[in-house]
Amino acid sequence: MKIGLLTSGGDCPGLNAVIRGAVLHGIKSYDYEFVGFLDGWRGVLEGDIMDLPRSSVRGLARQGGTILGTSRTNPYDGPLGGPENISKVLERLGVDAIIAVGGEGTLAGAKRLSDAGIPVVGVPKTIDNDLKATDYTFGFDTAVQIATDAMDRLRTTGDSHHRCMVAEVMGRHVGWIALHSGMSAGAHAVLIPERKISMEQVAAWVSEVHERGRSPLVVVAEGFIPEGFDDVLHEKGVEKDGRPRLGGIGEYVTQEIERLTGIETRNTTLGHIQRGGAPTGFDRVLATRFGLNAVNLCREGAWGKMVALRGTDVISVDFAEALDGLKTVPEARYDEARILFGR
Ligand code: F6P
Repeated sequence: MKIGLLTSGGDCPGLNAVIRGAVLHGIKSYDYEFVGFLDGWRGVLEGDIMDLPRSSVRGLARQGGTILGTSRTNPYDGPLGGPENISKVLERLGVDAIIAVGGEGTLAGAKRLSDAGIPVVGVPKTIDNDLKATDYTFGFDTAVQIATDAMDRLRTTGDSHHRCMVAEVMGRHVGWIALHSGMSAGAHAVLIPERKISMEQVAAWVSEVHERGRSPLVVVAEGFIPEGFDDVLHEKGVEKDGRPRLGGIGEYVTQEIERLTGIETRNTTLGHIQRGGAPTGFDRVLATRFGLNAVNLCREGAWGKMVALRGTDVISVDFAEALDGLKTVPEARYDEARILFGR
């Protein structure tokens, strides 16, 4: 069998480990061949590929990014999009199956293609950890570690200047990165999209910490909306593909804290640093296991399925299940974190 791998959507530490796991397992166990489609679905639509022999994946588990490149191209985009062209491309290249590694958008495209008869299996990917069908996605642990390290550093400079420090982390729709990094770094307020909180309440938490002689640390997810706002803070512009452009909430929260408390406050937006560099050990193992198991799905001809983590087992689920809404932070999980900060 010849398998074509692609990585699509925003990149994420662990993508290369998936590629390595799949290629090593496929070649060593079943004598399969592998090619990589370049820049996600664009490579499929245009038949743009690179060979993936065993030597091409040497040392890849520890390497950030993706050697295949990525894009947000949808498999139904433009005149080359759709199952008819794609099956012609696969036939021309002698590719029997696709392993698509990506987030919600990628998996939605993969589902449509699979429903139309294209042999495709999926591997979930997002640093946001917001896919319902899997307990964890690789990249999340790395992002949490990077945010934790950053906040540990913000603490020492905050302490020196008796300032309040704000860290804006990623999380467009969900607050998992903010929740976990905030708990791990001991933040004094965790602000997430799932929970509206007034700036007055945030200011009260900050003042209370300051009065105790400590330097307050606030972590805010980029998708947080303070009480009293709809999504005004997010209407800064709309990107080409129709996704709202986020960013700026950390700065807003910082200004409001300073205005309401009089405490000198500084913002740091971590941005894409959270997606860069080497994956943690946990993410390397999870991504590798996802790669291995995706090859098993190809071997079984389990088209339309995606690998997922349940507890400590890697299982498979239908694409439909994978797309059944976002995994948001439950109230109980937020309240657990709340015990640690504020009154
Ligand atoms: O979905 C992952 C993510 O990193 C979000 O947390 C963030 O909002 C978005 O991607 C950023 O996308 P881009 O890299 O296209 O700016």
